[in-house]
Order: sequence, then structure tokens, then C-alpha cells
Amino acid sequence: MPTVLVTGGAGFIGSNFVRLLHQERPHWQVVNLDLLTYAGNAENLADLAGDPRYIFVHGDVADWDAVTSLFARHAIDRVVHFAAETHVDRSILDPGVFVRTNVVGTYTLIEAAREAWHRDGGYGETRFLHVSTDEVYGSLAAGDPPTTEHSPYAPSSPYAASKAAADWLVRSYVRTYGFPALITNCSNNYGPYQFPEKLIPLVLCQALEGKPIPIYGRGDNVRDWLFVTDHCRAALTVLEEGTAGETYNIGAGEERTNLDLVHRLLGILGELRPELGDLTRLITFVPDRPGHDFRYALNTEKITRTLGWRPRVSLAQGLRRTIAWYLEHQDWLNRVRTGEYRRFLEQQYHGRTK
Ligand code: NAD
Ligand code: DAU
Repeated sequence: MPTVLVTGGAGFIGSNFVRLLHQERPHWQVVNLDLLTYAGNAENLADLAGDPRYIFVHGDVADWDAVTSLFARHAIDRVVHFAAETHVDRSILDPGVFVRTNVVGTYTLIEAAREAWHRDGGYGETRFLHVSTDEVYGSLAAGDPPTTEHSPYAPSSPYAASKAAADWLVRSYVRTYGFPALITNCSNNYGPYQFPEKLIPLVLCQALEGKPIPIYGRGDNVRDWLFVTDHCRAALTVLEEGTAGETYNIGAGEERTNLDLVHRLLGILGELRPELGDLTRLITFVPDRPGHDFRYALNTEKITRTLGWRPRVSLAQGLRRTIAWYLEHQDWLNRVRTGEYRRFLEQQYHGRTK
């Protein structure tokens, strides 16, 4: 039975990925290592508690003893590394934790995996998927061609720089030690369980509460939006079928300006909840994010051509599904907004997860 260590599995993409594994790889053992920072929500996978194929471990990817003891206790032969500090605005306010988790944490994991897999007789069928971001390539101008896997790195924010540093560490392990790593660089995700500091859930929260919707600068920055389950399927495809040592871009080809995206969201929400009135009145232009990247766009020919992956959910479908999910899960949203989800953590996990 394959045993996969998923890091950051209580976060947005990680919890969607664990659920995908649970449904589609029922014979896999899943170990989820998560520190449950403000962005981690144990509630996201509460229904899997008690399942013998799922083990939750409350711990830090940058803690050498915690990570090596996991490799000693479980026959981990695959790692999917999502755990990270992920919000650009927070990285501008407090870069230190981004360096610790994203750089030192990634180092700790790859070194622990290298050591454990060597001790157990070599790499064999082992695989390490490092989940990264399109932000490492830096900002594009309006007419620039999308970045390929060979485009130079030019990170702008401390978040992007910490992810770029981690990518290069992983690449160095491939080159120097033949470490069986794969890297994915993905565009903006959206969908169920996203923490409401990120643009799409933030807009929905503010609109439902009749509060101002902050748009940085003029709202003309461009992002490419991918529905989260499409990212999770791509990650699984790369883990299983990708060539070790390679990098794969993952994107939707759904580029939109922030202002256009927000108008679409408010349009759909207004249709579903006409009693909320004219939601566009809430749009409020605020000072721009320092160092704000203008545009990201990815060339995804490689993953499509070599692995046959392509997105299944269009932006129009994905936005409707996302809005419907948040409307149906306003209790989840309220517990996150009020901080009550932290109390669930206290009750469920503290003291009995190691
Ligand atoms: P998230 O912020 O929702 O979740 C991060 C998870 O990591 C949380 O559960 C948190 O508790 C955990 N974590 C943080 N520090 C930890 C530590 N030191 N040890 C163990 N666990 C820790 O993040 P997300 O949006 O789901 O992103 C997951 C990964 O995907 C990240 O590596 C991110 O860089 C990458 N990514 C995200 C997007 C996106 O649009 N969200 C796009 C491309 C790539
Ligand atoms: O591109 C992939 C990246 O996408 C991931 O690596 C990051 O982890 C993830 O957070 C995301 O980064 P962004 O900075 O693009 O996402 P965010 O949702 O913070 O912002 C999306 C765009 O919306 C961006 O241009 C900034 C703008 N924005 C954001 C917020 C939170 C606003 O205009 N107002 C806001 O309040």
C-alpha cells in the first residue's frame, strides 16, 4: 500500500487534495502533517477523522525531529508538499515566517526524505512533489507571451522569493543527489475551503455582509484562475506520471483583470441573492499592494502534451460552484471569520496528535 505524506493538508488546496486521494486512491495511506496555522483548519477534513487510511499529525515542516520521526514511523514513499505561508500581503508585513516555513521547511523535508530513502535502500519508486507557484516567474506586461518552464525566475514579493528559493533547493537536490523530485508551478486557485483573506472568498464575505470590497490600485492587474480540483488532479497526475526531475506549469488559461473578476462574482451573487441589492456599490479602490505584479500567465503545453492533463472546470462553472459552496457553508465562513475554528482545533487535536 503506498503511503503518501501530504504537508499542509488542512489548508485550502491540501484539504481538497487529501479528499481527492480519499475518493480516487482508496488503497493509499495518507499522513497529513500540518501546523494548523491561522490558514489551517482541522474542520476541513473532520469527516475523515477515525478513518484508518488517514492519519493527521499536528507538526511543523521546519522541525527536523518531527519530520524525521514521521519518516521513521511510517513507510512514506511519496511526499506532496503543500505546506507554506501563502498570502502575499502577509509576506510584505512579516517576511520572516515565510523564509522559515517555505525555505527552511522545504529544506527540512527534502533532507529528511533523502536520508530516510537512502537508509531504506535507495530511491526506488519514491517521489517528492514540490508544489510551487507561477509567482516565481515575476510580472508580465500585457502583451508578453506566457511563461514556460524555462523562463527565468524574477520573484517580486517576499512570498514569491521564498517559493523561488525553495524551488531552487529542490532543483539542486535533483541535480546533486539524483533526488526524485518534481515541481509544479501553478496559477491562482479558487474554490471551496479557501481562507477568506484571498480575493475571491474575501469579495464574497464582504458582499454578504454589505461591507466595502477593497480593490488594489485600479483593479487592472491580471491573474489566471484555476478551479482547485483541477489543480489537485494535475498534482496527482504529475506525482504518478511525471518524469522525476522535471518542472510542470499548471494553469487554466482564464486570464481576467481583478475588476472584471469581481464584477463577475458580484453579478452571479446578485442573481442568487437579489435581496442583497446592487453589490457593485461596495467596490472600493484602495492603495496598491507594494511591488504588485501586474500579470501572470503560464504556458501549459508541457503538461498537456506529455501527461494529457487539461482543466475540466471553466471559469464560469467554477465561479458558480464556488459561490454556491460559500452560500451553503456560511457556518464554516462565520467560524473562520470569528476565529471559532481555532476552538475546534483545541478540542480535537491539542495534546493527542503527535
Ligand atoms: P493555505 O494558506 O490555504 O494553507 C497552507 C497550509 O499549510 C495550512 O494548512 C497551514 O496550517 C499549513 N502550514 C503552514 N505553515 C506550516 C508549517 N510550518 N508546517 C506545517 N504546516 C504548515 O495554502 P494554499 O493556498 O492551499 O496553498 C498550498 C500550496 O500551494 C502552497 O505551497 C502555495 O504556495 C501553493 N500554491 C497556491 C496557489 C493558490 O492560489 N492558493 C497557487 C499556486 C501554488
Ligand atoms: O498566482 C498564484 C498565487 O496566487 C499563489 O502562489 C498565492 O499563494 C495566492 O495567494 C495567490 O496570490 P495573489 O496575490 O495573486 O492572490 P490574492 O487573492 O491575494 O490577490 C489576487 C489579486 O487581487 C491580486 O492582484 C491582488 C488583488 N487583491 C487582493 C486582495 C486580497 C485586491 O485587489 N484586493 C484584495 O483585498
